[in-house]
Amino acid sequence: MNQTFGHFEDSSREYVITRPDTPLPWLNYLGQDDFFGLCTNCAGGYTFWRDAKLRRLTRYRYNNIPMDLGGRYLYLRDGDTLWNPMWKPCRTSLDRYECRHGLGYTRITSEKNGLAVEVLFFIPPGETAEVWQVTVRNQSGGAKSVQLFSFVEFCLFEALNDMTNYQRTYSIGEVEVEGSAIYHKTEFRERRNHYAMFACTRKVDGFDTSRDAFVGVHNGLHDPKAVLAGACTNSLAHGWNPVGAHQLNLNLEAGAEESFAFVLAYVDQGTDEKFEAPGILNKNRGRALVKKYAAPGAVTCALEKLRTFWDGLLGALSVQTPEPNLNRMVNTWNQYQCMTTFNLSRSASLFETGIGRGMGFRDSNQDLLGFVHMIPSRARQRILDIAGTQLCDGACYHQYQPLTKKGNAEIGGDFYDDHLWLILSTCAYIKETGDQSILEAVVGYADTPGSKETLLHHLETSIAYTLQKRGPHGLPLIGHADWNDCLNLNCFSTEPNESFQTAGDVDGSSAESVMIAGLFLYAARELSALYQAMNRPADCARLDAAYAEMLVTIEEQAWDGQWYRRAYDAAGNPIGSAECEEGQIFIESQAWCVLGGAGVENGRAAKAFESVHQHLFTPDGIILQQPPYATYHKELGEVSSYPPGYKENAGIFCHNNTWIHLGWCLLGDGDRALEYYLSICPPAKPVETYRCEPYVYAQMIAGRDAATPGEAKNSWLTGTAAWTLVAATQGILGICPGHDGLVIDPCIPRDWPGFTATRKFRGATYEITISNPRKHSKGIQSLVVDGKPISGNRIPIAPEGSTVRVTAEIQ
Ligand code: BGC
Repeated sequence: MNQTFGHFEDSSREYVITRPDTPLPWLNYLGQDDFFGLCTNCAGGYTFWRDAKLRRLTRYRYNNIPMDLGGRYLYLRDGDTLWNPMWKPCRTSLDRYECRHGLGYTRITSEKNGLAVEVLFFIPPGETAEVWQVTVRNQSGGAKSVQLFSFVEFCLFEALNDMTNYQRTYSIGEVEVEGSAIYHKTEFRERRNHYAMFACTRKVDGFDTSRDAFVGVHNGLHDPKAVLAGACTNSLAHGWNPVGAHQLNLNLEAGAEESFAFVLAYVDQGTDEKFEAPGILNKNRGRALVKKYAAPGAVTCALEKLRTFWDGLLGALSVQTPEPNLNRMVNTWNQYQCMTTFNLSRSASLFETGIGRGMGFRDSNQDLLGFVHMIPSRARQRILDIAGTQLCDGACYHQYQPLTKKGNAEIGGDFYDDHLWLILSTCAYIKETGDQSILEAVVGYADTPGSKETLLHHLETSIAYTLQKRGPHGLPLIGHADWNDCLNLNCFSTEPNESFQTAGDVDGSSAESVMIAGLFLYAARELSALYQAMNRPADCARLDAAYAEMLVTIEEQAWDGQWYRRAYDAAGNPIGSAECEEGQIFIESQAWCVLGGAGVENGRAAKAFESVHQHLFTPDGIILQQPPYATYHKELGEVSSYPPGYKENAGIFCHNNTWIHLGWCLLGDGDRALEYYLSICPPAKPVETYRCEPYVYAQMIAGRDAATPGEAKNSWLTGTAAWTLVAATQGILGICPGHDGLVIDPCIPRDWPGFTATRKFRGATYEITISNPRKHSKGIQSLVVDGKPISGNRIPIAPEGSTVRVTAEIQ
C-alpha cells in the first residue's frame, strides 16, 4: 500500500494522514443525526443543522485558492512565529503533523518549536454542538508565553443568500458577547428562534466579532490584523461579517500543559422565553452547554459515547476474509460512508456545495440499501418521507429539501426510473426487519392534499406507472433521464444556459430506456416475493405476469447480438448498439437486465457480461460506455457534453460498477467479482493518480479515454457507497436478508479457503463460517445451523437475543 500521505490503522478504525498537503483536501464528517460538520485534514469545512443550505452556521467558500480555505482556525503566536496547529491558513511548516480521521471525529496533532498542540473535533451524539478539545503542551524545555487565537466566520443566513445577496446579508448579522461566549444571531425576531454560539470553556483574554477588526479589510486569513498585533479588539459586529474569535494568553512552564474546549453550537430557543430582555437573546441553553463541556471529564465521556455508538452500529456486520481491503472497507469505512450518504444524500461535500441538491428520490432510496441494517427505524422514516414526495400518478419529485421534506419544484420530476427505486428500498427494509406494517403506513401523495393512501399503494402506483409509460418497442419511456442523469433523450438543447435535466418536453416523446425495463424486472420480482411472504398469491401472479411480459419485450426488442442495447432515442434509433458509431455498449442495461433475470436462461447474460469484460473493463474499473462521444449530440444530451473519459461520457462511474459486481456473483464468477470489486476499491488505488480520499468511494474515476486516467472525483456522496456494500456482503459474501430467513449464497474467488462473518439479523447474532475446500466459487453444498444440518441455503429466523452458529461448505 502506498503510504506517502497516510495509512489505515484498522485497530482504531482511523485513517492516519501524515502530511497536511494531501493531493486534495481529505474530508471527514462530524455528526450522526441532525447536526453536521465537514472537516478536512486541515479542519477546513463548515457546520450546519440538518440542511446545509437553510441552516448553515459557518461560512465556506468553495473553489477557493488555495483549496480548502475557511474552516475551524486556531492561530498560535509564539515569539516571532505565527503558525496553525491544523497548518492552514498560514501554512507555516510544522515540526510534526498528524491527522486521524475516525468515525465521527477528527484529531489533529502538531508541533512547532517545542509546543505540541492536539485538537479533537467531534459532535457529541444527540448534541447540536461541535466540540473542539484543545491541549497545548510545552515540550521546549523552557517556559513559554504564547497566544492562541480561535476563529470562525458565521453565516446563519440561508447559504445561497450568503453568497449572493450582500445588500441584505451585510445588514442583518448581529452578535452578543457574554464572558467567553460569542453569540451570533440573524433576524432573531419573529421568523427565527435559533442562534449560533462559539464559546470557550476557559476564561479568555479578548475577543473579536467583527471580521474587519480581526482580519482587517485588506489582510488575509493567513495574516489577520489582530493576531499580528497580538491583541483582539473586543469588537462588536453590526452587520457586515460577524465572526467568532477568542484570544487566550497561555503561560506554560517547561513540561506544562493546558486543556480547554471550544463549543460551536446551534441553539433552537423555541418561541417561549426567547428573550431575556427586550431584543436580548435568552442564553440559558448556550450557557448550559458551555458549563456541561467545561466540567472535567465531560468531553472524554461524550467521546466515549460516540465510540460506543459506532461500535454498536458496526457490530451488526463484520467480516474476516483473505482480502484485507475488503475487510477494512466492509467493516469500517464503507459502512461509515453509507451512514453519511444516508444522512446527506448528495447535498454537502467538497464537490456538492450544500446549496444545490437536496435529497434525491432515487439517490436516497438506494442509499438506504447500505444503511438499513444499521438503524432500521431511521430507514423506515426515510422511506415514508421519500414516498411523500411521489405524485398520485406515480411520478416523483426528483429531489426534496431535508428541512421541509417538500419536493424541489425547480428540478421537477419525470425521471421515469425514480419511482421504481422505492420498491427496492421498501423491500430491503422489510427483508431486514420483517416489519410488513410499513406497507400500511399512511403517506399522502405530494400533489393531493389530504390524501391518505398507504405505502403499498405507492408501490403499486409505481409499478402501474412504468407499465403505462411505454414506447413503440413496448419498453419503458425514459422521460428526462433514467439513472444516467445525463442521457437526456428529450431535451434537444442547443441553449447553453439551460439545464439538460429540465429542458425539453417529455410529453409525447417516444424515447425508451432498456435500463428501466431491467430495473422493472427486478422491482416486479421483489414485490412479487413480498406478496408471496404475505401469502397473497393473486398479487404474486399479477406481478409475475407483468414480469414475464417485460422480459419478452426485453429479449425481443433490446438484444443487440452481443449485449443489451441501452435505449432508443426519440427518433427510434438504438443507443448502445454495434450499429452506433459511438456509445456502442453501456454498462447499465447489461447490469439491470441481468440482475432482473434476463438472459440468465438463454445464455445472453453470460455473453453480455463477456462483452462488458472485453469492451468496458479496465484496471481502474468498468467504463460506463464505449466508444466515448467525441462531439455533442443534441438527441443524447449531457452525456455527450463531457470530454471523453469523464463522468457519464466513458468515465468510470463507480456506482454502476457495483451492479456488474453483483451480476458476476449472480453468474457465479467470484474471481471476476473480486477483481472488479478491487479495481475501484479506494485503498487499492495509487494515491498520486487517484488523489481523492483512500478511505471512501468516489463517484467517478477518469476512464482510459481521459487525459488523466485513474483520477477520482466527487468523493463521499455517491450511490457507490450503498451498492458496493451490497455487492460485497450480499453478492460476494452472499449473506442476504430474506423475508423468511438469512440466505447464505456466497460467490467468492476460487482460491479463497473461506471466510467468517458476524451478522445481526432481526435481533439474533449469526456467527458464520464458510469453507471452500474444493476451490469453487458458488453453490452451498452443506449448511449446518447450531449443529443441525439444514437443506437448502436459508437459515430460519432465530429468536431475538440468540447467537446462531452457522457453518457452510461451498460445493
Ligand atoms: C446522481 C444520480 C445519477 C448519477 C448518474 C449522480 O450524480 O446523483 O442520481 O443516477 O449521477 O448520472
